[in-house]
Formats: sequence, structure tokens, C-alpha cells
Amino acid sequence: MEDELNQDEELHPSELGTLQYWEKIYEEEINNFEDHGDVGEVWFGKRTTENIVKSINDKLDISKSDKIVDVGCGNGWTLVQLAKKGFTNLIGVDYSSKALDLAKAVLIENKIDKSIVKLMVCDILVTDKSKNPLDNNFKLVHDKGTYDAISLNFDNSKLMRENYIKNIHSILLPDGYLTISSCNWTKDELIKHFNSHFDEFYTIHTPAMTFGGKTGSSVTSVFFKKK
Ligand SMILES: C[S@@+](CC[C@H](N)C(=O)[O-])C[C@H]1O[C@@H](n2cnc3c(N)ncnc32)[C@H](O)[C@@H]1O
Repeated sequence: MEDELNQDEELHPSELGTLQYWEKIYEEEINNFEDHGDVGEVWFGKRTTENIVKSINDKLDISKSDKIVDVGCGNGWTLVQLAKKGFTNLIGVDYSSKALDLAKAVLIENKIDKSIVKLMVCDILVTDKSKNPLDNNFKLVHDKGTYDAISLNFDNSKLMRENYIKNIHSILLPDGYLTISSCNWTKDELIKHFNSHFDEFYTIHTPAMTFGGKTGSSVTSVFFKKK
């Protein structure tokens, strides 16, 4: 019964769960950026990103020099916003090297000093510690849309989600935080998934917006504290 329930809970796999998809997307976005300065898709929108960064600043017991990693940082837009808020010890990781090429260009365009933000290719699902370049002293892990993408993996998404939760837990300090923003999972589902390793303490719900007669997905950002 438990297994049946878990199987039913998984999302339908999609190409968004593959590295090939993201490499192709970021290659196009780099061309667009070079052509007309478009930073590309900011997942869930720039306003949602600003709200998340504001809440990180206002709701967490965190200092500006604490170490923060943005997992699946994509074009680096969140890192730019965190740097503009005054955070000085930022790392962006993504398993797509093309995402990091775009993020590097976006950081330069926004005049963010490279001593403030470091970028690294890293597959956050790798379980072999020797192949994981991340230390275990982060105060905050930020994720916007990456757990969603991992949940769409074709190969055993449940196991991938579990590896993600364990790996994130292991790189955080004992008093560390995880902020996770999703359009595929509800607040209750996220809390259930992360409950073994994290306690929820704050949630931002961005309702679905209707624009031009089309209704988008709602976004839930759950802030967790490491257990
Ligand atoms: C939906 S996009 C979100 C990008 C960015 N966080 C944003 O908010 O605009 C998902 C990102 O996760 C990255 N990603 C997916 N699986 C990953 C993994 N196992 N390790 C590292 N990055 C991953 C993708 O390359 C992509 O950049």
C-alpha cells in the first residue's frame, strides 16, 4: 500500500528531468543573451525571486557573510539578487556547464564581483562524496525549480528525490536552512517529502496569475530548518 501510494505520488517524467534538455535550453539562452541582452527564463518570475530573497534576509537568522549555495542556479539571477541584498559568500552550482556560462555573463553584466559569487559544475544527486565539490558548511541552500526538475527524472524519480534530500541535508551546518520553491508540489507534499530531515517554519504562497486569459501555475516557497 505504502509503495502503491508512493508510486502514485510521482510526477510524470518529462524531458525537463534530463541534462540534454537543459544544455539545449541554455545554449539558446546564451545566444539570446549575446544577441540582445535577454537573461532568459527566470523561473517563477523576477517578482517571486525578489520576494524569496527578501524573506531570506528578513526571516532567517543569517549573516551577510554566511555561506549560501544556489543549487541548479541556471542563469544566476537569484545569485545577482542575493549579492545586491549584501550577501557576500555565494556559490552557484548547476549540472549544466552551459547554464554556468550564461550565469557568468549575467553576473558580469550586473557588475557582481567574482570574489562574491563562485560558480561550479556539480550534479547535486551524486552520492559519492569524493565526486561532490561542495563542503558541508553551508548556512543556506536555495533551490528554485531544481527539485521540480529532479522530480521529473525518467529513472526512478523517487530515489532521485531521496538522494537530493540526503545530499542537501549533508552539506548544511547543524543550524542550516533550505528554501525550496516549486510549482509542481504543494506545501503539504513538500513538507511530507522533507519531513525526515527538515522542519518547515515559513511558507510563501504565490497564487496563480491570469494574464491574457491564460492562468499559470501557483508557486510555493517553503523555508525549512535542518533537523
Ligand atoms: C527549472 S530550472 C531553474 C533554474 C533557476 N534555479 C531559476 O530559478 O531560474 C532547473 C535547473 O536545475 C538544474 N538541475 C537539474 N538537475 C540538476 C542536478 N541533478 N544537479 C544540478 N543542477 C540540476 C538545471 O540545469 C536547471 O538549471
